[in-house]
Amino acid sequence: MISSCRAAELRNDRSGRPDEQFRSPAVPQLSPTFSTTMPLTIQRCASCGTELPERDARTSCPACGGLLALVHAPPAEQGAALRARFDARLRDGAGLVADAAGAARASGVWRFRELIMPGATDADIVSQPEGNTPLFHRPVVAAWAGVDALLLKHDGFNPTGSFKDRGMTVALTQARRAGARAVACASTGNTSAALAAYASLAGIAGLVLVPAPKSGAQQVALGKLAQTLAYGARTLLVRGDFDDCLRLVREGAEQLGVYLVNSINPYRIEGQKSVALEILQQLAWDAPDWIVLPAGNLGNTSAVGAALRDAVRLGLIARAPRIASIQAAGAAPFASAYRENFATQHRVKAETVATAIKIGDPASWDRATAVIREFDGVVTDVSDAEILEAKAAIDAAGIGCEPASAASVAGVRRLAREGVIRPGERVAAILTGHVLKDPGVLLDYHRADHAAPLVNAPIEVDATLDALARVMDAAAARA
Ligand code: F0G
Repeated sequence: MISSCRAAELRNDRSGRPDEQFRSPAVPQLSPTFSTTMPLTIQRCASCGTELPERDARTSCPACGGLLALVHAPPAEQGAALRARFDARLRDGAGLVADAAGAARASGVWRFRELIMPGATDADIVSQPEGNTPLFHRPVVAAWAGVDALLLKHDGFNPTGSFKDRGMTVALTQARRAGARAVACASTGNTSAALAAYASLAGIAGLVLVPAPKSGAQQVALGKLAQTLAYGARTLLVRGDFDDCLRLVREGAEQLGVYLVNSINPYRIEGQKSVALEILQQLAWDAPDWIVLPAGNLGNTSAVGAALRDAVRLGLIARAPRIASIQAAGAAPFASAYRENFATQHRVKAETVATAIKIGDPASWDRATAVIREFDGVVTDVSDAEILEAKAAIDAAGIGCEPASAASVAGVRRLAREGVIRPGERVAAILTGHVLKDPGVLLDYHRADHAAPLVNAPIEVDATLDALARVMDAAAARA
């Protein structure tokens, strides 16, 4: 299936090689309501400015290898009128999700379609739906972090349990528009689960490369691996780390003509913008002071920045929040570079309990650097112990998250203690993945012999009422 997929199958016009397509671009499809001759969207290299038509399936610049960004025609409405349109769609979105149009209407991604993929028609859209995740306030977590006005944007409430669904709905929609027969990614687990689910929905073959277990230890959290297999993607366990997987899939995708849907793909970034747009809408377009998020490959940092850029430019908000990207201390090349004002690009051999962000050579480096500079951002790192303590606090609040997600709240505590986040500031921290993604780390934490805060080890008892009563008494005394 995958092996028979060649570059030719990715072409728009199904004639000639992809390079020829670059030389004589296919005319982009225009919405019937768009009246000028300008295309609604083009792809532009962020490094050298080379432009590609919207449906070109390459995911890096053919001239210089740089990362591509999407440039959309400005929407007809701006400011209050655009806010009103998005708010009306939010109200009208509830209801039956019987077909693609219903899913697109209910989706927290496609609600913002003018800023994401203005040329998409309902028939193009591959949506579960996704997005519309809750923005919680949990006083116990706020107290743990030392920030009263701490909000938790829980993207673990997406259909496959992570924020990756936001990018994947757009990437698979684009894969369908570009005529792709197969999609591929390298992953630390969540992207692969999302790819598998959306590829299945689109009827397109999916291929994922994840790091193989090393010395008996899983490198990908079990929930994510299980999902990827369940949804039906071909799953390769590569003897190497995530950085090796990404290098391999980039080479392979080009040669095999498979559409690459890692976050270097600009359509992934467009979809992931929606998490920030949703936060702004949930706060009635009164922006928080900070958006804080975990950072690995830096796609999400880039996406949040791109969304804020749009929101300010189009008058959706009066002022932009600052961005804080949080890395795990054992996988923190971006935090190290930030301390040196991004003088050099760092690479490390990554090691952390938060396997989702165990990445030593982030792909979206340049995009994310620009975002941190533009939004008065900060980058810091937190230890595995801080991550696990933050996670235990979030879990015990009854909502839970996976280890990488907890890095954002651990980062909030650190930045508040350092005085970077000031008293009274309103902070939205993104929880990127669901608590069940990584049962291995959870069960290991809640061992009877583990001396850590909030350990809740299971208790084995005889099947007698006496034994039960003893446990009940002890639990009541603890509460
Ligand atoms: N949080 C979670 C739960 C993730 O899965 C990831 C990335 C991140 C944060 C970091 O986002 O890479 O855009 O900076 N996971 C990717 C994957 C690498 O393959 O699932 P980023």
